[in-house]
Amino acid sequence: PKVVLAYSGGLDTSVILKWLCEKGYDVIAFCANVGQFEEDFSAIKAKALSVGASKCVISDLRKDFVDNYIFEAVKSNAIYESRYLLGTSIARPCISQEMIRIANEEGAQYIAHGATGKGNDQVRFEMCAQALSPKVRAIAPWRDPEFIESFKGRKDLLAYCTKHGIPVDAKPKANYSIDENMYHTSYESGQLEDANCGPDESMFKMTTSPKTAPETPDVVEIEFKNGIPIKITNAADNTEITDSLELFLYCNKIAGKHGVGRIDIVENRFVGIKSRGVYETPGGTLLREAHLDLEGICMDREVKRITEGLASEFARLCYNGFWFAPEMDLIRNSIDFSQRDVEGTVRIELYKGNVTIMGRSSPKALYNADLASMDIEGGGDAFDYNPGDAQGFIRINSVRLKTYAALRAKFD
Ligand code: ARG
Ligand code: SIN
Repeated sequence: PKVVLAYSGGLDTSVILKWLCEKGYDVIAFCANVGQFEEDFSAIKAKALSVGASKCVISDLRKDFVDNYIFEAVKSNAIYESRYLLGTSIARPCISQEMIRIANEEGAQYIAHGATGKGNDQVRFEMCAQALSPKVRAIAPWRDPEFIESFKGRKDLLAYCTKHGIPVDAKPKANYSIDENMYHTSYESGQLEDANCGPDESMFKMTTSPKTAPETPDVVEIEFKNGIPIKITNAADNTEITDSLELFLYCNKIAGKHGVGRIDIVENRFVGIKSRGVYETPGGTLLREAHLDLEGICMDREVKRITEGLASEFARLCYNGFWFAPEMDLIRNSIDFSQRDVEGTVRIELYKGNVTIMGRSSPKALYNADLASMDIEGGGDAFDYNPGDAQGFIRINSVRLKTYAALRAKFD
């Protein structure tokens, strides 16, 4: 039988590759290029073939990832548990879609992955796969009793590699699990399992420390249309970029240079386990701040209130693996509709870990300086705003508060 294995070139998935071969599977290794930092894809391909894959497919998904996933997250202001920008979560449907495409093309009935039985990723990969191709079956060796029995720790994995002549990195990789793509890099487990132990400065890949970041800020201008960034400029280095992939890469570079977008959190996995993670999301953090700010000037108050609810639903569904769910389609369509008038330019200063908004303008602004002004009475002819009316507005809105206060006074 044929199986498409999500292969990273690392220790775990190399052992899984060989193990599947030994079980009699014809293994097609698949490695998604979602913009991992300094990844050598030709070395991964060579390794997959040398370990025993009959074929290795490397797919460049970077453009798809930016246009159809990262920018969807930016547009919706998605954030999980108020802090996590979903860097790993949102890459899973993108990778799964390509994995299923390859499985169909190759006539494979199986997909395999190296996610553990305790995490979110197993859920995401397999739920996405089910949604896209119900007949495909998943193989998850880290849930297979026989596999777990044979590989109780890193030592067993290394011994297996020696036995089968599988090349292993000379210097052992860091003592934590890393997941990386162009949106973020995550660090979990190993020494980070002690939630009270801070991360090593040396582990970060995409950001410099805010402490050693440049003394001189950068100021960029980001233009949006329909809630999507369409242009970034930086007068200091003559940058003017409109291509979505290049634009996002530049956001990473400039925000990373100034130490923007690091977080260290304990979050709730879908399976009910709390998990400590350290993440760096430089470009995503910059775009989030810019986009939120633009909504301030362009978006109606009640539309904003409703889309805030949609953003948290979007984040929860994405985190839990429901990217291809009907309710997600509903939410994404609603968000698109809410973004029709989210258009304009935001000017932002980046400095020592901070993203500071310096100004914004929009051809579709709802903000009206005359109406808001403390120096001008009323708001011009179009707005029949009479400050005197506010007295009645306050009195009527206070009715419930007075009723409630009277009740409390009687019974407390
Ligand atoms: N906790 C984050 C999430 O669930 C990051 C997961 C990292 N995954 C990994 N295979 N290292 O989205
Ligand atoms: C894993 O369990 O494989 C990584 C962490 C996660 O998926 O939540």
